[in-house]
Amino acid sequence: MVVKAGAGPDAPRSVTILGSTGSVGTQTVDLVSRDPERFPVEALTANRNVTLLAQQARQLNARLAVVADPSAYAELKSLLSGTGIEVAAGSEAVAAAAERPADWVMAAIVGAAGLEPTLAAVRRGAIVAFANKEVLVCAGALMMEEVKAHGATLLPVDSEHSAIYQVFDFDRTDSVARLILTASGGPFRTRDRAFMAAATREQAVAHPTWDMGAKISVDSATMMNKGLELIEAHFLFGIPEERIDVLVHPQSVIHSLVEYVDGSVLAQLGTPDMRTPIAYALGWPARIATPAERLDLVKAATLTFEAPDPVRFPALRLARAALQSGGGAPTILSAANEVAVQAFLDRRIGFLDIERIVEETLTALPHRPLRDLAAVREADADARRDAAGRVAAIGATTVGSR
Ligand SMILES: NC(=O)c1ccc[n+]([C@@H]2O[C@H](COP(=O)([O-])OP(=O)(O)OC[C@H]3O[C@@H](n4cnc5c(N)ncnc54)[C@H](OP(=O)(O)O)[C@@H]3O)[C@@H](O)[C@H]2O)c1
Repeated sequence: MVVKAGAGPDAPRSVTILGSTGSVGTQTVDLVSRDPERFPVEALTANRNVTLLAQQARQLNARLAVVADPSAYAELKSLLSGTGIEVAAGSEAVAAAAERPADWVMAAIVGAAGLEPTLAAVRRGAIVAFANKEVLVCAGALMMEEVKAHGATLLPVDSEHSAIYQVFDFDRTDSVARLILTASGGPFRTRDRAFMAAATREQAVAHPTWDMGAKISVDSATMMNKGLELIEAHFLFGIPEERIDVLVHPQSVIHSLVEYVDGSVLAQLGTPDMRTPIAYALGWPARIATPAERLDLVKAATLTFEAPDPVRFPALRLARAALQSGGGAPTILSAANEVAVQAFLDRRIGFLDIERIVEETLTALPHRPLRDLAAVREADADARRDAAGRVAAIGATTVGSR
């Protein structure tokens, strides 16, 4: 992890939010809008939600608003006419937005679509608040090399990694015995496989403790989210897979833990509100106030813990196997998962088909070394093609039954 000395802790910090219309993005907008003088906004980006994007751009007086879907350009332009806010469209324009000179960039696009924009921010040495975990899963080693080479600062936003970051001894990493990632267990924590086989989109996105975007909510239901986080933690903190454990903790109060060689275990706690880890990254190295509900341990009263169940939730095993295999395996895992989760959200496949498609794609494709970004893009595209074929095959046999 590269840590860069910044200006004074309370100095103004210009901000770009990639994925400003999403769950993490809107919570970042909420925090930034509470102190507009300290956090002037350079650019905001979305995929196609131009109504919200235009409203945010006006509210924050952004210099630039970008929509990835080119067909939404005319509408965005008209919504922002007369404001003086620049408008652009297309995925290249999203990456170009990240190149603009903001001190701090929130990477909150969902999926591998965030790779190029996040890289653009890293390559100009920005402070990057990093929520978009699929980027580190698909290109972890290359991304961390770029962070080092360009003196960028990567601050994790995932609550688990933010927790670890806050209690991790970067100067003496050999004193760290193990990382323990906590997991809520998702909406199907107590359900059996028969229930999951028939689970609907609505049941899968109904997360018990966090209010999040659709893709990460389904990932929490399969527990693939914890698998992706395990890979993310490996690259962020340089700890090998076998020293990263997962602990199910349904109350989501302890956000993760670090065990040291002397037996001490350090943790970060709080109510489950993403504005706390977002604010940690936004203010870093200073802390800023948030409206998040305060933790009342008397009210919480009981914190419980369980081991994850590898039989009901095989995604964790798949993610560990992909990390052990190395090379393009995590890229394939994440790309196949993106395709399968989208197909489930579109009601084209069942819930348990997600893990099956990921496993079959991981088995079918070679795990080639990732020497450069072209190799990442190729592994990603191959996995998407393979997984889409598997989705289509399922769709062909179950048409009309969902
Ligand atoms: N939500 C959470 O609490 C949480 C917690 C920890 C980590 N994360 C991670 O943070 C990331 C974002 O999650 P989220 O829950 O905020 O997702 P989300 O609510 O689905 O928002 C995704 C954002 O990315 C934009 N986007 C989607 N596809 C895009 C594309 N192809 N090109 C450019 N922009 C695109 C969306 O724009 P539109 O609105 O126009 O579609 C939206 O602004 C994910 O990697 C997730 O794993 C989220």
